[in-house]
Amino acid sequence: MLNIHISESSFRDLRDYIYDNSGIYVSDSKKYLIENRLSRILQEKKLNSFEDYIKLLKFSPNGDELTRLFDAVTTNETYFFREPQQLNVFSESIFPKVFEQKKGVKNIRIWSAACSTGEEPYTISMMLMEKHLSTNQFEILASDLSTGVLESAKRAIYNSYSVRNIPESYHKKYFTISGQSYTLNASVKNTVKFMKANLIDNKNLKSFRGMDIIFCRNVLIYFDTKSKQKVVSNLYDSLNPGGYLLIGSSESLHNVTRAFRPCVIDKVIMYQKV
Ligand SMILES: C[S@@+](CC[C@H](N)C(=O)[O-])C[C@H]1O[C@@H](n2cnc3c(N)ncnc32)[C@H](O)[C@@H]1O
Repeated sequence: MLNIHISESSFRDLRDYIYDNSGIYVSDSKKYLIENRLSRILQEKKLNSFEDYIKLLKFSPNGDELTRLFDAVTTNETYFFREPQQLNVFSESIFPKVFEQKKGVKNIRIWSAACSTGEEPYTISMMLMEKHLSTNQFEILASDLSTGVLESAKRAIYNSYSVRNIPESYHKKYFTISGQSYTLNASVKNTVKFMKANLIDNKNLKSFRGMDIIFCRNVLIYFDTKSKQKVVSNLYDSLNPGGYLLIGSSESLHNVTRAFRPCVIDKVIMYQKV
């Protein structure tokens, strides 16, 4: 398949369109990647130029097209038990603290923002199930911008790459294994509610208010400082006072906000809304 050439002005148009709709900043170095990944879509749609593609996006956008566009500029890479040290701190320190604060009054609300294909919220759920909590003691919401990944998350069938970090004892307990295919059991699947949400747009985040713990990992890397500030301010508004924000270990809120109190447990940094 030959790539369709993208002119400088179309690249800038497309970049602005992506930025305005998702907050994702596409750097100049990604021009070739855009050309490469989107040429396939143009050919499928029998479009001859990026100018025609941009017109299509602007004047008759549909959800699937936007999803494919966003998928082309981000990666949905994820897997179970990613960043285990942070997960342990969540399970052993943060969750018990929040549980103690809310004891007997309300359930704990957890949000996996930018959940991709679901490995993150399902990991959280399995860790809580290991504590023998009843499923009405916690609630897990999970969201992503891409409808494609959400469909896959709801199916909850994974390959061996995705499950490679799962402790052995969890395999039999929580999955039905057939060859290289790992189907998550309904007991875990049913604890997570998936919804589409764009983190940059506070108008579509109303269902995510009153959270106690938010995981927003490995997505801030796609945003420039202005988008990060918007997203992090939306997450702040979604948290209850005393609640925690957990971001990826390669990400930082330096120069983004001072609204949170950073706290460090076992070398893992987390951000508390005070
Ligand atoms: C690399 S995955 C991270 C998955 C998981 N949190 C983890 O750490 O393994 C990044 C996800 O962010 C999503 N994303 C990118 N921009 C977004 C936005 N503006 N709103 C919501 N999700 C977004 C992408 O669709 C992708 O699924």
